Amino acid sequence: MNKNTIEQLTPESSKITTILVLGATGGVGQILVAKLIAQNYQIIAIVRNMEKAQKLFGDSPNIRIFSGDIRQQKSLEKSLENQQIDATISCLGTTAFPSTRWWGGNNPENIDYLGNQNLINIMPPNLKRFILVSSVGVERSEEFPYKILNLFGVLDYKFKAENILKSSGLPYTIIRPGRLTDGPYTSYDLNTLIKATSGNYQKIIVGQGDKLLGETSRIIVAEACVEALKLDCTINQTFEIINQIGKYEIPDHNKLLFWQTLFTTAQENNSL
Ligand SMILES: NC(=O)c1ccc[n+]([C@@H]2O[C@H](COP(=O)([O-])OP(=O)(O)OC[C@H]3O[C@@H](n4cnc5c(N)ncnc54)[C@H](OP(=O)(O)O)[C@@H]3O)[C@@H](O)[C@H]2O)c1
Repeated sequence: MNKNTIEQLTPESSKITTILVLGATGGVGQILVAKLIAQNYQIIAIVRNMEKAQKLFGDSPNIRIFSGDIRQQKSLEKSLENQQIDATISCLGTTAFPSTRWWGGNNPENIDYLGNQNLINIMPPNLKRFILVSSVGVERSEEFPYKILNLFGVLDYKFKAENILKSSGLPYTIIRPGRLTDGPYTSYDLNTLIKATSGNYQKIIVGQGDKLLGETSRIIVAEACVEALKLDCTINQTFEIINQIGKYEIPDHNKLLFWQTLFTTAQENNSL
């Protein structure tokens, strides 16, 4: 593929206008929704805390917010009744270790694994893309430092969700970040969120085969999801993404080409 031109083969991706987001009130999710709105996509968000979501996005005409809990498939089905969606992005999560966020059974097994499974179960067969935010290390959960992170199974549960998605037949993209930095920007408004930058760690490394180790800005995870959605070369692919010290100075009009090069180079390097 000629990397100097934006991929022409994007017939599926170009049809996407309405996107279902799960985890919209979370660290990655807030930035993701802000970026999607800024690019004039229509968003449907299913959240368990309506007040929090209204406070964050309530003023935007591009978003419809419904109440639902990922642990209850029926609540998701009810929220999505009569809604047409083209793509889904799941950035659901909870803490890797026991915390107050696990109360009521909101643990990695029920969110990262069974919750995503509930979501995948109710997707329309003509969905154009399902993007799942997972984690680096899911294929190395026996190795340090992932062994520690996986003490309560979070990486294994995320890997299970990845595999369910892969065998679902839906066109998928899996984005695996390293340890997340930047945010959550819980008290910021949408305009502030889309202008957020990731300090000195702005260089982006994309890989395949679960070989990377490092940290990833939530801003970059959100951007990777938005740009992957537009590129057919990311369909049925899994990418790890980390940030290193360096600059990111990509003008908006070159962003898609930049990400296309990152994604296709990762694929080429992986097949060497
Ligand atoms: N933290 C890390 O270092 C790290 C590293 C690699 C990958 N990741 C993964 O990256 C993704 C994004 O991380 P993040 O830190 O930005 O996420 P986060 O802030 O923890 O957000 C999680 C989102 O999931 C929602 N959620 C949780 N339980 C739910 C339920 N029962 N029903 C509906 N929604 C529910 C939360 O809603 P509420 O706002 O209502 O809680 C929130 O919107 C996650 O999948 C995470 O596991 C994280």
